[in-house]
Amino acid sequence: MEHTNGGDTSASAQAHSNIALAKYWGKRDAALNIPAVGSISITLDALHTDTRVTFDAGLTKDELWLDGREQQVGRAGLVLDLVRERAGIDLRARVVSENNFPTGAGLASSASGFAALAVAATAAAGIEATPRELSVLARRGSASAARSIFGGYAELHAGESTDGNDSFAEPLLDGDAWPLSVVVAITDPGQKAVSSTVGMQATSASSPFYPAWVESAPADLDRMRAAILAHDLETVGELAEHSCLALHSLMLTTRPALIYWNAATMSAIHAVRGLRAGGLPVYFTIDAGPQVKALCLPADAAAVASALTLVPGVQETRTSVLGPAAHLVAVP
Ligand code: ADP
Ligand code: DP6
Ligand code: CO
Repeated sequence: MEHTNGGDTSASAQAHSNIALAKYWGKRDAALNIPAVGSISITLDALHTDTRVTFDAGLTKDELWLDGREQQVGRAGLVLDLVRERAGIDLRARVVSENNFPTGAGLASSASGFAALAVAATAAAGIEATPRELSVLARRGSASAARSIFGGYAELHAGESTDGNDSFAEPLLDGDAWPLSVVVAITDPGQKAVSSTVGMQATSASSPFYPAWVESAPADLDRMRAAILAHDLETVGELAEHSCLALHSLMLTTRPALIYWNAATMSAIHAVRGLRAGGLPVYFTIDAGPQVKALCLPADAAAVASALTLVPGVQETRTSVLGPAAHLVAVP
């Protein structure tokens, strides 16, 4: 809700994290943050960001408060600049945000964080934006955030234009049309040593596998889209594990190497494969961090969570259903 108070304008939004089943890694334009390959994700109900943006004539610079601590404004300032430009305003903003899960740990805080910021900042500036425009705006903050504008299953297009305006996400399938669950096994909630942005820059500059990734990803993306539309869990799972392992092969062959896994990550991978060998349809995926996400049917989620809780080094599990689109919430 937009809310005016003595010349200040505020809005609050909530957005959910997402995990890619067909991964993005590498940019075709770093300045505009345009991904080199398309990606497909599911939105996670259990992991979300709440962000309030206030444009305030009393501020001389933008502020970002994350989980109660002031941070460098960084790319949030870029998103605010784009909003100010469109709204024709020159006020600085205070951004106050909370993630209900670890930040910078491979759980896509940049996805929910920049999606919530795009929605809240646009509303606080008093301008209208279509979901597609919000997706492009969120992408400038973090490409995975383009997907968190939408709920359920979403696809982010790499696009072809030089301005990046055709690199947006769009809904692929409603979450209700094919409910799945994700059990997140947290092995280390600490912040990653190398951010996704810096890591993928190093990969594209140094991994000999990078050209093969850019060449092979589109066909895998097509297969993933078709398997999701067919509600074919076995194929989705096989493709998701392949995309995850191809991504981590890129990371391992980056110089210097990016090793986001720890011992518990590997143990959890084997636990998922063991469950599957025992007849349970469950598949793993891992982003730029040591946490393992297990994809399964909602009816199997409790059994998957119990098994992953027993894996040495797994500190906590969080079970999620598919989440909703980013949305405005009432300003408290
Ligand atoms: P992750 O795996 O969590 O997405 P990234 O390296 O991609 O890790 O991004 C982490 C960065 O995203 C943080 O250091 C911060 O700059 C930004 N970020 C995370 N949460 C928020 C938020 N709620 N609001 C604004 N920026 C955020
Ligand atoms: C491994 O979207 O966090 O999670 O665009 O530089 O902010 P920036 O990177 P980010 O990278 C996500 C990488 C990934 C795979 C994915 O989510 O597609
Ligand atoms: Co991220």
